Amino acid sequence: MSSYNAIAELYDPWSASVVEDVGFYLEEARRSGGPVVELGVGTGRIAVPIAADGVQVIGVDSSSGMLEVCARRAALAGVDVDLRVGDLREPPVTERVPLVICPFRSLLHMHTDEDRRRVLESARELLVSGGRFVFDVFAPGAKDIEKTHDRWLEREPGIFERAVWDEEARTLTLTVRGEGTETTMALAWLGPDEWRALLERAGFEIEACYGWFDRSPYKGDEDMVWITRRT
Ligand SMILES: C[S@@+](CC[C@H](N)C(=O)[O-])C[C@H]1O[C@@H](n2cnc3c(N)ncnc32)[C@H](O)[C@@H]1O
Repeated sequence: MSSYNAIAELYDPWSASVVEDVGFYLEEARRSGGPVVELGVGTGRIAVPIAADGVQVIGVDSSSGMLEVCARRAALAGVDVDLRVGDLREPPVTERVPLVICPFRSLLHMHTDEDRRRVLESARELLVSGGRFVFDVFAPGAKDIEKTHDRWLEREPGIFERAVWDEEARTLTLTVRGEGTETTMALAWLGPDEWRALLERAGFEIEACYGWFDRSPYKGDEDMVWITRRT
């Protein structure tokens, strides 16, 4: 069962301050003309604004709880998002689209190169020739690890998180707690050269790797925003 089910209702208040990526993905969606497939659509933080802009969205997620919240959010906004329960490695999508996105580090839920390869190859398969796959991931800096390791921090009022970093295994075990519920999830990170090699092996040409959603170049900091194209 998905670790996100337990925090489906908590997810939006927990991620309330994460807004910097919405305009970026919206711009990519507009540019593509749609339809857009979002892998790991969650509660529709990105998908609903895209649909509200008139671009058709198909959203895939393994958490039925997150999809329920997403459906509610879409209804409130008066838009339709085509939601499908499924895995990133085998998305239940037969349509071919000009843009596949995987925002907010969802790819870090993949722990092995084999799983990453399956997601990347599936994303490629969904794209029309020349279509783009756009996603963001991170690799933590030593300072962030030192500052947060094994400490409960109040991320939003009444919502706490604890990050336990394993620098050798390059994994983060994140526990989120609030409003009488709690969940723990495991994330695994890679460096830019490893992402690049995986992407190229899966048949993508890299158009850009930005360091932030303002499209500033990646300079070795934590965030990587990849724009890739199906070759
Ligand atoms: C960090 S959230 C991102 C949600 C949304 N994209 C956003 O930007 O707010 C990660 C999402 O990926 C989903 N997810 C994690 N592992 C998955 C898998 N193997 N297959 C499908 N969805 C998965 C989770 O259920 C969750 O909704």
